[in-house]
Amino acid sequence: MFGVLKSRRHMKAYSFVKVMVILVMLQMKSVVREGEGRRLKGWDDGDEESSNVRLKIPSEATAEEAEADQGTRWAVLVAGSSGYENYRHQADVCHAYQLLRKGGVREENIVVFMYDDIADSSFNPRPGTIINHPHGPDVYATVPKDYTGENVTSENLYAVILGDKTKLKGGSGKVINSKSNDRIFIYYTDHGGPGILGMPNMPYIYAMDFIEVLQKKHASGGYKEMVIYVEACESGSIFEGIMPRDINVYVTTASNAQELSFGTYCPGMDPPPPPEYLTCLGDLFSVSWMEDAESHNLKAETLEQQHQTVKKRTLNFHNDAFGSHVMEYGDTDIKRDKLYLFLGFDPASVNLPPYNLKLQPPMQVITQRDADLLFLWQMYNRSQHEPEKKTEMLKQIRDKEKHRRHIDNSVDLIGIFLYGPGKSSSVLGQVREPGLALVDDWICLKTMVRVFETECGSLTQYGMKHMRAFANICNSGVSAAAFKEASSAACDGYDAGEMHPANRGYSA
Ligand SMILES: *[C@@H]1O[C@H](CO)[C@@H](O)[C@H](O)[C@H]1NC(C)=O
Ligand SMILES: *[C@@H]1O[C@H](CO)[C@@H](O)[C@H](O)[C@H]1NC(C)=O
Repeated sequence: MFGVLKSRRHMKAYSFVKVMVILVMLQMKSVVREGEGRRLKGWDDGDEESSNVRLKIPSEATAEEAEADQGTRWAVLVAGSSGYENYRHQADVCHAYQLLRKGGVREENIVVFMYDDIADSSFNPRPGTIINHPHGPDVYATVPKDYTGENVTSENLYAVILGDKTKLKGGSGKVINSKSNDRIFIYYTDHGGPGILGMPNMPYIYAMDFIEVLQKKHASGGYKEMVIYVEACESGSIFEGIMPRDINVYVTTASNAQELSFGTYCPGMDPPPPPEYLTCLGDLFSVSWMEDAESHNLKAETLEQQHQTVKKRTLNFHNDAFGSHVMEYGDTDIKRDKLYLFLGFDPASVNLPPYNLKLQPPMQVITQRDADLLFLWQMYNRSQHEPEKKTEMLKQIRDKEKHRRHIDNSVDLIGIFLYGPGKSSSVLGQVREPGLALVDDWICLKTMVRVFETECGSLTQYGMKHMRAFANICNSGVSAAAFKEASSAACDGYDAGEMHPANRGYSA
């Protein structure tokens, strides 16, 4: 099967073989863990544990419900990626939209950010549709195209949250025009790195900018309570040490400040997507909260109860390599609220079983950062009888690996130039204690990223993992001039080509 590689240079073949080995190891892991429980949740059960539920008719209203009805529910849903290999993020967001609509949240109160290049992608085996579960329905139809394509930007996201139409560039013009009695739910899913969340158009979301937006919204009396769910690698780092507790915002993240987050329902894994899909359908934290919300009466379940369920499922049986620690930040008193205050209430759910922290079967997953390689490899594996396509897939995998090595090596070299070979890796890799922000000076962090991108090319989705190194360089007091000298030496003469920030914009 490596015939195509014969004429290529050995080094290139080597890096491809390494990818193959990693993927084969993942496959083996899957064989070992098979049989621990295959049954999928949600669409194929529905009979369990309903015997001890007090039957309730939808018209019974409590004082809490009457109070909730005075305010309006708002939601902002954000898929931060583009590209078919990132199918799962837009699938998560579409699913969340359907869930909120079923709960009675009005379309005019839900703002959707998604690149919208999945449903009509030539790779999509079911054109015009998107699914977020192997047996799930289409979640794409009816999703509004508020901010798509070039209009999915961090600036538009901030303007939408703040309800500031004057700052919008493009899009539907829909904003969170909320009042002091309203509740806001924000859900974000994508790639991330220490201190940043991805966006399909530059720049990325920087933690401090996002938190300042929340503070502004609070200062303007723009809501009563806000709940934020974030799925991304190192998502805890967006809030760790900087999220205020006194602005009525409760946050949960898929992972702590230094962990990866995971895609699931991936080809070749258990549970698998339908065989015609070569990409992952969802993300572990995301499908955990949505499938939980869909299997309970949200007038009975609290945010705390959902948090417990999602925490357990996302930890994935304490398998550190394939699970992460769901974290909480901000005002944790809000956890006592019932979920329907934010997600709405579907009358059909009134007699669903109560919260029970039921054991979920383990989920096979892949890190957010390797999911794109998995997609390319699946394409390669299915191209055995199409030599041209096969050659093209091999090239894409090789190029991706090569770019990864370039980014990793550049950061390594910069560290060696700045601190010497003995100290470099301990400075760059240092993880601050919980409760401390990633970086003291966020402007410094942005400056360093821009310098790096000028000298070495765009950071890209994969390079986000090095944000902690840049943060530590700031924390150690290195000047921008010294950093520029080191970066320029490390990437001396490197031709970033298409990956030059002049073409794609700076990520900071
Ligand atoms: C961006 O927004 C503008 C203004 O609403 C619109 O004309 C344009 O089509 C949008 N672009 C995409 C890709 O949706
Ligand atoms: C690779 O493709 C073959 C068919 O071309 C298929 O039988 C096999 O399951 C695929 N391997 C994986 C791990 O998906």
